[in-house]
Amino acid sequence: MKSLSRLTEGLSQSDIRAVTARVNAVNGINLGQGICDMPTPDPIKEGAKSAIDEDKSIYAPYDGVDPLKERIVEKVKSFNRIPINGTQNVMVTAGATGGFTTAVFALADPGDEVIQFEPLYGYHSNLLTLRGVGQKTLPLHPPNWEVDFERLEALISQKTKAIVLTTPNNPCGKVWSRQELEQLLELLDRYDLYAITDEVYEYMTYEGREHRSLASLDGAFERTITLSSFSKTFNMTGWRLGYATGPERVIEKMGLISDILYICAPSPLQFGLADGFATEKSYYEQMLRDYDIKRTLMCRALESAGFDVPWPEGAYYVFASFQPLSEQPGFADDQQACQTLIDRAGIGSIPGGSFYSNPDDGQYLLRFCFAKEMHELEEACRRIETQLQHM
Ligand SMILES: Cc1ncc(COP(=O)(O)O)c(C=O)c1O
Repeated sequence: MKSLSRLTEGLSQSDIRAVTARVNAVNGINLGQGICDMPTPDPIKEGAKSAIDEDKSIYAPYDGVDPLKERIVEKVKSFNRIPINGTQNVMVTAGATGGFTTAVFALADPGDEVIQFEPLYGYHSNLLTLRGVGQKTLPLHPPNWEVDFERLEALISQKTKAIVLTTPNNPCGKVWSRQELEQLLELLDRYDLYAITDEVYEYMTYEGREHRSLASLDGAFERTITLSSFSKTFNMTGWRLGYATGPERVIEKMGLISDILYICAPSPLQFGLADGFATEKSYYEQMLRDYDIKRTLMCRALESAGFDVPWPEGAYYVFASFQPLSEQPGFADDQQACQTLIDRAGIGSIPGGSFYSNPDDGQYLLRFCFAKEMHELEEACRRIETQLQHM
């Protein structure tokens, strides 16, 4: 038979999905995949049920239904402080992933280049690869994940179209400071580049840190596409709803691309979300308090098992180094350590190499997700402390 497209040649199941399958096979606790298994807030569920009962089942406009877009406008103005005019600056996307896909299609042609920071989020780089966009990466190093702006500038070429920024970061939890964002903006301006910012963990910042959107800085809006999502904030990763904010001329094209790729994000769920969109501050405060407790639990358990742990500034992952354990059997590299944790403690994590263009750079790292129900996380931490200490 004729071969499949060349695009498919490099494709394989992501480490994240592969680990999930292996952890499920031993009925273990999966701290690998970044899914929050807490319940979706009731008002959102009720809203979706009503929308389904009312047969709001036909295709939505390609850029989203008005009631939801209006709620997004309010949120983006008040929380993100992004200077948008109205619904013409927002679109509902099929998750932040749909937003990233359409942003890449709107901004970059095959052969153009995009710069990312490492550790990186694999879906970003895989999509860029699928689209034939070249990638350059600037490594950030633990424990502070500081940005070397001179090295960043050296990566910019004639082909560079955009810089991708994830703050708070998955996997390392870095939260970009105002000063770092200003330095980045200075480069974007000087070299006339776009930024695509992935802010899906925007409500999860610890120890009093504040999330800042690049697009809120003076002069940044016209060159920044801001992506966010309901997936993480409202524990609804499977609903596939997110949104993008940006200048009208880009958002309009992204909407048209989204129409070609997906037609629209799921309509009844959009209506349901518009009804149930939790705007009360107390929801976000409670969520943050819960994650803060879980973060402490997870970091302490890994530290007591001998890991080197840079405590995350934001998001809900711990990207920890097991280098201090690397002399022990089963800890030679990230793949082996991941399997050792599954075999001996029934705990799923993600090998660090998944977050680097050269997997060797993540050789001694594992990512743990602490967005779990408390009782499950406690059991996972107990196992990490007891099973690993006794090896
Ligand atoms: C940085 C980042 N962006 C996007 C996503 C996916 O978001 P969505 O479910 O809205 O597509 C994830 C999920 O893990 C993520 O970590």
